[in-house]
Amino acid sequence: SAIYRAGIAGRKPSVPADAPTLEARAKRRMSPRAWAYIAGGAGEERTVRRNRAAFDKWQVVPRMAAGATDRDLSVELFGRRLPAPVLLAPIGACGLVRPDADLLTARASAATGTPYVFSNQGSSSMEDCAAAMDEVSPGAARWFQLYWSKDEGLVQSLLDRAAKIDAGAVVVTLDTTQLGWRPRDLNLGSLPFSRGIGIAQYTRDSRFLELVRERIARPVQGPKPDVTLAAVRSLVDILRNHPGAFLDNLRSGEARGSVETFLDVYSNPGLSWDHLATLRERTELPVLLKGVLHPDDARRAFDLGVDGIVVSNHGGRQVDNAIASLDALVAIREAIGPEPTVLLDSGVRSGADVYVARALGADAVLLGRSYVYGMALAGRQGIEDVITNVVAELDLTMGLTGVRDLAGITREMVQPATA
Ligand code: FNR
Repeated sequence: SAIYRAGIAGRKPSVPADAPTLEARAKRRMSPRAWAYIAGGAGEERTVRRNRAAFDKWQVVPRMAAGATDRDLSVELFGRRLPAPVLLAPIGACGLVRPDADLLTARASAATGTPYVFSNQGSSSMEDCAAAMDEVSPGAARWFQLYWSKDEGLVQSLLDRAAKIDAGAVVVTLDTTQLGWRPRDLNLGSLPFSRGIGIAQYTRDSRFLELVRERIARPVQGPKPDVTLAAVRSLVDILRNHPGAFLDNLRSGEARGSVETFLDVYSNPGLSWDHLATLRERTELPVLLKGVLHPDDARRAFDLGVDGIVVSNHGGRQVDNAIASLDALVAIREAIGPEPTVLLDSGVRSGADVYVARALGADAVLLGRSYVYGMALAGRQGIEDVITNVVAELDLTMGLTGVRDLAGITREMVQPATA
């Protein structure tokens, strides 16, 4: 009602209240390069569309006259109570939208109490993001997302840094051992990383700098066989257009070595369950695996002793024609039962979506592109308003369907849609 009251008072909202208008306005405000990167998906973008279509396959059956005032949207995750079942997903190389993207997101996250999952491909370091959050609200909830590096020392170093910044959890993303086939990016011919955007976690990392120095000391080598065409293109782009200009804190020889080293070690295309088996003993933080879509992988994750999973197809950016995240959630919840912690992302755009995700078994959801669009339109305020709108619509939907708290959004509140 605060949002309606502001409207009645004639205050103009910083962002549109509906996802399609938000997206359309953000597109106009973003550079074609940034738009392609943020909005784009893998291949023909069938998964991107399917993520949305999956929500249309469910309909809510509201209950009347339930006296559902004084609603409680809070949820406890890993010993911490959150105001709503909503987090901010890790978005790598967001510096393409605005150089201070991660810091703006950190502040909006802290102001709203919505945990922000710092991307391993962040445009500001996790230490800087944590400090920005603490300035707004000391101890505000932050998590860290890890890409499992080919270099085990780097994996450990990142995990240790996450513990030092008091991350509430570590999210290990499994679905991006290599970048997906993304025509919008490929057609533009360069990746964000080629401008040094999205490697801030690395250039502050002592183990990473060690690797860079080792590489510089070695004689020059040709491209590694597993370096993708896109990676080679981006390297050429750096050398041609941005020689050494992208890393303030490194000498220029190290700068070139940094991007090469980054391309070499940022992920491990050979990642296996054997690597992951070491995870539990490598950190005391709660651990989640992100990108799980098959019930057997979900079981396997929990067999390893992880604390949760994120059912996600990376916003449709990795495998074209992959299963919608919401469809995967239904099958996974059925397979693993009600207890294990399961988060969902990919395609969540509104409070009405959060409601359906909860009804189908998600403990909480992560917002991805939508908060980036809010930022593109109105900076930190835009992010806060996107979050507020989603949470307000969830609250209203609960009230209008006769539900007082999240536990009340049961499986019985939704049915397969009949039209
Ligand atoms: C992502 N995503 C992502 N995930 C991750 O684990 N690490 C990362 O660095 C990134 N980077 C990234 C960049 C961009 C531009 C996008 C759009 C997405 C995936 C992200 O965390 C989340 O899974 C999806 O964004 C959710 O889908 P929606 O909400 O964007 O549809």
